[in-house]
Amino acid sequence: MKNSKVSDCQMVDIRRYSDTRGYLSVVESGIDIPFDIKRIYYLYMVPEVARGAHAHKELQQLLIATSGSVDVIMDDGCEKKTFHLDKPWKGLLIPSGLWRDLEHFSGNAVLMCLASDGYNEHDYIRDY
Ligand code: TYD
Repeated sequence: MKNSKVSDCQMVDIRRYSDTRGYLSVVESGIDIPFDIKRIYYLYMVPEVARGAHAHKELQQLLIATSGSVDVIMDDGCEKKTFHLDKPWKGLLIPSGLWRDLEHFSGNAVLMCLASDGYNEHDYIRDY
């Protein structure tokens, strides 16, 4: 497992194209993000609860609030930093090995996660 730091998290601009018909954003492996996308999942209709509360040993992720807003609190054991995601053209690139809490989902929030691997419970660290 990599010992990443909060400072290794990166807010990235998602590539976007606009014309009179509106906006289109795209994320392509090897061009926009440094890993191959193996899985996509998304959280929505989240009530006033906190989610997340885990770290991943190997998984890398890009989180995008495609609608609404959410706070992602990243924690490496020494430093904590809150990233407010509220635009569909902004993403948070999360390297492996970092604790995250997800809080303050707005009512219309859709949080999409592009992940570097399939679902694997053995990759989770759930004990802070
Ligand atoms: P969970 O890890 O608790 O979500 P979060 O940490 O974002 O709050 O996942 C909720 C449920 O969904 C849990 O039963 C496992 C399942 N799940 C999958 O089957 N595949 C997946 O890719 C993910 C992310 C979760």
